[in-house]
Amino acid sequence: MRIARAGTASSKTQQKVSRPESSRARLPAVQTAVPSSPVLPFNQILIGDCVERLEHLPAESVDLVFADPPYNLQLEGALSRPDQSVVDGVDEAWDKFSSFSDYDSFTRAWLTAARRVMKPDATIFVIGSYHNIFRVGTILQDLGFWILNDIVWRKANPMPNFRGRRFTNAHETMIWAAKSAETKSYTFNYEALKAGNEDCQMRSDWFLPICTGTERLKNDDGGKVHPTQKPEALLARVILSASHAGDLVLDPFFGSGTTGAVAKRLGRSFIGIERDTAYAKAARDRIAEVTPLPETAIAVAPSKRSLPRVAFTEVIEAGLIAAGDILTDAQRRHRAMVRADGTLSLFAAGQCAAIIGSIHKIGALAQGLPACNGWTFWHLEKNGALAPIDEMRGQIREAMQAAE
Ligand SMILES: C[S@@+](CC[C@H](N)C(=O)[O-])C[C@H]1O[C@@H](n2cnc3c(N)ncnc32)[C@H](O)[C@@H]1O
Repeated sequence: MRIARAGTASSKTQQKVSRPESSRARLPAVQTAVPSSPVLPFNQILIGDCVERLEHLPAESVDLVFADPPYNLQLEGALSRPDQSVVDGVDEAWDKFSSFSDYDSFTRAWLTAARRVMKPDATIFVIGSYHNIFRVGTILQDLGFWILNDIVWRKANPMPNFRGRRFTNAHETMIWAAKSAETKSYTFNYEALKAGNEDCQMRSDWFLPICTGTERLKNDDGGKVHPTQKPEALLARVILSASHAGDLVLDPFFGSGTTGAVAKRLGRSFIGIERDTAYAKAARDRIAEVTPLPETAIAVAPSKRSLPRVAFTEVIEAGLIAAGDILTDAQRRHRAMVRADGTLSLFAAGQCAAIIGSIHKIGALAQGLPACNGWTFWHLEKNGALAPIDEMRGQIREAMQAAE
């Protein structure tokens, strides 16, 4: 597969990036040497500082970024539970910064580097807590990103506040941003998310458990391999929301490889960057165990907007509904007659009234509403049962698709 890209904002050169056909099937590799040519290392874990590593990737080459950067937790000393056992918190050197301005410089550097490798329509998710997310948000906006949502990950099983001096810290925040305000055609699988959510729009508050049980990577001594391993369900929702199968997902703070494991399972490619070789090895071993789901299980259901448009007259022309047929709503409270030109005439007080209009307009008028989807509102009686006229539209669509 060859990927064409349009060049960076500063240089308008066209460049092509080659991708070997077999690269998606390969096991993830760990790459330590920085390559001199800008070749996309599909499904690889790059070892090193993400700012430096990102500078060696081709511009405008990734479809989605998920970043779980150091939070700069500023923990002061060990935290104990009431029974005096010590809480296994985040005390690693990689999470420590000498000052807020030091943290801001680091954030500005990696976000700038990540933005360069994002395709014009790519988006980025950055997760954080109250310690860092406000600083990250400001810097995202200062660098020209365009914030689309802030998503609250509400933890089903948060750690209690042992000292009883504050509210239980029960959520983290993810900022979802487009590369710029001009980004209009970014990926958002709205219909698929809605279909998987009881046909309700997916909300910006996500209720998910933290990573525990068998999903948590453990050392031989039973300790955590990584202190901040994210739950796969969180990454699955991110990736399913904002990418397509075959897309390339970048994670510049790869840790235990949660992004890579989920990307592989969902038929996406990934590039991970991680400074710590032990984490990178754990990630590589973890990803090698993942089996991608079959294509039928990951293909996004076609959105209603992508289905071919069908006019009501076409349903009449196909002989599925005849001029003169009477349509009703599902509760048989309203009736309208089908006219030869594809409009409806509303029955009022038993009489065919002089109110004529489209299936949508007459449906809205019948209910006294500003708008109505006539396809799902109006039904045709056939053999004693009511069928929504949307079923007849479906038959026409099937015939159209079969003819393509
Ligand atoms: C919050 S953790 C990410 C955890 C990961 N999301 C997971 O599920 O395992 C941040 C990771 O970034 C790595 N890291 C910190 N600074 C880095 C840098 N400048 N370049 C590359 N990796 C870095 C740390 O070693 C750590 O593993």
